[in-house]
Amino acid sequence: MMLHYCTQRTLFLSKVLLNSSKSSFCNSASLAATSPLFKFQILTANYSRFTAIAGEIPMRSYQVVVAPTRDMGIGKDGKLPWRLPSDLKFFKEITLATSDPGKQNAILMGRKTWESIPIKYRPLPGRLNVVLTRSFEIEDEENVITCGSISSALELLAEAPYCFSIDKVFVIGGGQILRETLNGPGCDAIHVTEIETSVECDTFIPSIDFSKFQPWYSSPPLVENGIRYSFVTYVHVRNSENETIAGKTGGKCNDGKSSSNRFEVKDFSFLPKMIFEKRDEYMHHTSSSK
Ligand SMILES: NC(=O)c1ccc[n+]([C@@H]2O[C@H](COP(=O)([O-])OP(=O)(O)OC[C@H]3O[C@@H](n4cnc5c(N)ncnc54)[C@H](OP(=O)(O)O)[C@@H]3O)[C@@H](O)[C@H]2O)c1
Repeated sequence: MMLHYCTQRTLFLSKVLLNSSKSSFCNSASLAATSPLFKFQILTANYSRFTAIAGEIPMRSYQVVVAPTRDMGIGKDGKLPWRLPSDLKFFKEITLATSDPGKQNAILMGRKTWESIPIKYRPLPGRLNVVLTRSFEIEDEENVITCGSISSALELLAEAPYCFSIDKVFVIGGGQILRETLNGPGCDAIHVTEIETSVECDTFIPSIDFSKFQPWYSSPPLVENGIRYSFVTYVHVRNSENETIAGKTGGKCNDGKSSSNRFEVKDFSFLPKMIFEKRDEYMHHTSSSK
């Protein structure tokens, strides 16, 4: 059975919005959809995040998790071109952890990335697996849905029941999906495993737009299986009031003095807790080694 759930739900939702001011959205999202403000974002009490333009359907914002080489290569022959168990562990931890034990995260991926996961490991457990495909049929499986477009997936996740049950949304690849989502207005953060060793790839993603994204945390360099890499988190610095999601101080960050120390930790409370902990550890080490 084909599960093109997003398209049907979005059509339904559009009708509900047109016909009634009491939509079936979760409360904060429906308020957002009917506000006269031209453009704004809302931050719900539990930091589930939505963006909306007045008159349009709210969408979830998201974070990207990806491992690119210096020239932004991410894949070869439909697979990962390296074997880095520590990176897989990092990926698992960051995409599994939620701020609310009653919720799970969603991971959005292209159909080819889905197929690159060995059958015995998919769907990736403990997360809602959202597979993007325009044509593919996936057997009806628990915790897997398919969507025909990225926007319909982000819209679906902004409405009930997902606005209540999904904590964070991670876009996890591959190349085609990241070409549309990396650097996008709804992208809050990019968690990058920077592969410093040169490795041949046939799938590439665009460079990070450093006018929008600034480093927030960087691990010391690591080496595994002959591959040198480090973990770096970039946050989206929104430089106008309209672009601010995390409150007024979000705009303050992009003042031309791009020191990551200037970011106030509370402004990026949407980041996974482990990134905060790693950053605290890192700041502690760097300040004590001075
Ligand atoms: N290094 C990393 O962090 C990382 C992460 C993930 C993946 N990868 C690698 O990346 C490679 C796969 O990437 P890829 O670019 O070839 O494929 P992909 O992005 O994973 O999947 C492409 C497929 O997704 C669907 N799709 C694309 N855009 C869509 C849209 N806007 N709306 C709905 N569906 C859409 C289409 O499926 P249909 O053809 O079914 O319509 C398309 O064929 C593999 O080598 C994988 O190992 C690396």
